[in-house]
Amino acid sequence: MTNADSWVVLKFGGTSVSTLAQWQTIASVVRACLARSERPFLVFAALANVSRRLEELIRAVKNGAGEEERRWIKSRHLELARQLGLDGEALLAPYFEKLERLSLGIGLTAESSPATRARVLAIGELLISRLAAAYLDRQGLSTTWLDARTLLRSVETARAVPHRRYLAASCAAEPDTDLQRRLHTVQVALTQGFIASNDREQTVLLGWGGSDTSAAYFAAKLEARRLEIWTDVPGMFTADPRRIPAARLLRYLDYEEAQELASTGAEVLHPRCLDPLRAQGIPLHLRYTDQPETPGTLISDAVPGHGAQVKAISMRTGLILIAMETPRMWHQVGFLAQVFAAFERFGLSVGLVATSETNVTVSIDSVRGAEPESGTVAALMARLGSLCETRMIGPCTSVSLVGRQLRSVLHELGPALQVLEEQQVLLVTQAASDLNFTFVVQGQHAERLVSKLHAHVFATVGAQGPFGPTYRELQEAERPAVTSPWWHARRADLLRLPTPAYVYDAATLRGSAQRLLNIKAIDRCFYAVKACSHRQVLDVFYRLGLGFECVSPGELDYVRALYPDLESTRILFTPNLVPRQEYVAGFAHAGFVTLDSVRPLELWPEVFESREVIVRVDPGHGQGHHRHVRTAGAQTKFGVSPDALPRLRQLARSIGLRIIGLHAHVGSGILAPETWSETAFFLSSLVDSFPEVRLVNIGGGLGVPELPGTRPLDLEALSHNLEQFKSAHTELALWMEPGRYLVAEAGILLVRVTQVKRKGAHCYIGVDTGMNSLIRPALYGSYHAIENLTRLGAPAVMTADVVGPICETGDILGRGRRLPKTREGDVLLIATAGAYGHVMSSSYNHRAPASEIVLTEPEPARVLPDNARLKTRRGLA
Ligand code: LLP
Repeated sequence: MTNADSWVVLKFGGTSVSTLAQWQTIASVVRACLARSERPFLVFAALANVSRRLEELIRAVKNGAGEEERRWIKSRHLELARQLGLDGEALLAPYFEKLERLSLGIGLTAESSPATRARVLAIGELLISRLAAAYLDRQGLSTTWLDARTLLRSVETARAVPHRRYLAASCAAEPDTDLQRRLHTVQVALTQGFIASNDREQTVLLGWGGSDTSAAYFAAKLEARRLEIWTDVPGMFTADPRRIPAARLLRYLDYEEAQELASTGAEVLHPRCLDPLRAQGIPLHLRYTDQPETPGTLISDAVPGHGAQVKAISMRTGLILIAMETPRMWHQVGFLAQVFAAFERFGLSVGLVATSETNVTVSIDSVRGAEPESGTVAALMARLGSLCETRMIGPCTSVSLVGRQLRSVLHELGPALQVLEEQQVLLVTQAASDLNFTFVVQGQHAERLVSKLHAHVFATVGAQGPFGPTYRELQEAERPAVTSPWWHARRADLLRLPTPAYVYDAATLRGSAQRLLNIKAIDRCFYAVKACSHRQVLDVFYRLGLGFECVSPGELDYVRALYPDLESTRILFTPNLVPRQEYVAGFAHAGFVTLDSVRPLELWPEVFESREVIVRVDPGHGQGHHRHVRTAGAQTKFGVSPDALPRLRQLARSIGLRIIGLHAHVGSGILAPETWSETAFFLSSLVDSFPEVRLVNIGGGLGVPELPGTRPLDLEALSHNLEQFKSAHTELALWMEPGRYLVAEAGILLVRVTQVKRKGAHCYIGVDTGMNSLIRPALYGSYHAIENLTRLGAPAVMTADVVGPICETGDILGRGRRLPKTREGDVLLIATAGAYGHVMSSSYNHRAPASEIVLTEPEPARVLPDNARLKTRRGLA
């Protein structure tokens, strides 16, 4: 084999190993290395969410539960194995058994030492690395699977507490000729991130983000040519791209800048992993698994210098400040030494510091994922209290400008810093290294501050030097060319309509319903009426044969009145926490009733006697676009937890209630296509104890892209995943109850500009309705694209907040939007407003909300004389 420096270490994060497409990318990355005569050394992190689930398992097992977490972890891996065409049961059985044994031990003692926790958590990486080896071998890439614990040995400092020794260990990172020799004949090596062993051969972990650190250790030990970290974003950006789509990719950075960015909040990289690389000058290349052709960010010591320059704006949340005040500090020798000694005593390190003659304010530095415990902070406060007056402030957020020689560009930041006028700045520091300039502010102001600073600092920066394309551009390049939205073709019609008005396009409604109806694995689809209940919208779905999911007697009556002949089996009633009479109404008017609590059976058994119900189960973990719409987990009111199912079964048996289905709805606005098959597998895992169950309802929640650059839900993948479920469970019918997906894109809100107002540097576009018609931006911070329909296609030349007439500062429909030169009387179009728009409107301030209009489809072609047919166009109704 070639010499050591032909190694290239490739690390794949948990979100880069979840789908077949990603595994195909991994295989081709390996092949490309081999073709360049490089030797790939692959490091895998556990599948997304698995480490968190393992942590939860430990907690649950201590309380006598844990079955659900184990089941989730197992089905997640088996599902992936199925997608990869592997026999997951055979490959992974030893690890599942080990997990069971470890859980049993923890359950018996109700204790988990750091050593045991490390062994449990290590299983996540071991599982995925086994699948990785089997998959790559099948692709003809013969791999050598290595146990990372035989390669990485932790270095123990005498002072380290057990917690650190087992869960946040460090290893040596010098070139390791023994290891190089050991791998001399290996072509493709494959191992786990995050795990190592100590000199008693026990498993230890490398702490939060430890897989990046492992990969850096391996690169250093092997004297690798480079390290590539493959992840779920295209690289490092001038700001968090998920919050600021205009953020630019940073094409290259030196180690110090990257370290500074990682330490001040850029989550793509753990700051710990840079040291071993810098020591040997090994370049680090951040790559994007979902778009392997994107150049990514290269971090090395050989990047072109560009002099003084702000490179990025980062943000770190959850900061705790301690302000210490004493007049004695003035000219007092050793005060700061005493303060810092107190920090040392409690094992806490100081992050930011600002001092004056009577005040010292510091932030507690914490490594992500290993934040200090509140007891330790309280003890520190008590100790500091004996030295001076102390005050704890927080949690707050730091916003940092990061770059080279910032001191010399401060004057250029003048206009950008005006944005601080609106904020109370709690602390300002300027790093001695001249690499960052940091403000600490109250959490709720931080995002806005970052977005305004970013807009000011990078407004005129194009793709040049270190700055690459914007995140939005990258996402758009990735997206298959989308056909323009329906309203482009209807512009002239729309401009004739009165405002404010919600307008729905029947053809688009039908199109989205048809896409779901085409998914063969879904046996029945009930439209969630709550998303949009306009009569003609329901008509479209009625004609297509969909059922209706109702959540209140009001919705039941409404649907019944619209369609008196509708078979009751097309109505599903899904109430939660309602009084007796609503269940009575449900059984009278709906073919199916969903029960989401045990309590009604205890309170009103007579209502349920000899009936049939579907039981809503809480799968323990919610998802969705905002925490208000995540509907699973102990913190939410929905569903029966799996532990309560035996009791429910017993009560049901005693009154002859038949449980014919299981239901779960994890949340709303979800774009991850594996969500619903996971729910289905979760529900099916409970079916054994319910012999009469013949259907599983996997809820709604299918999202649509709102933010520019967001990729739409991959319906093909969703369909494929559900097929897998169906082939494993032919005995179960599969139901869904989507709302948003069917109506969101078919609906827009048309508003008219009333005033264009400038205040200081800020521009407000006032329109004729606001949060009384569309509350989603105010309630969830939702993003709705806004277009000037009057001037559609004109270049964007102004930046403005689009606001309504309601007496609240939160009455905003869109912040900082780029629009063509907009004037009073123009019509603006607010997109993706069909779901949860009009239904959530109100007459707040005694202002009537926007009305609703449906653009109907042409009647089915009748035989008309040619000239008459030409005149028939899609009608308005
Ligand atoms: N099934 C159940 C039990 C639900 O609670 C919901 C929505 C759905 C189905 C339909 O979910 P969809 O497919 O529409 O995501 N107002 C929020 C959304 C609240 C969703 C409430 N439950 C918003 O504007 O985003």
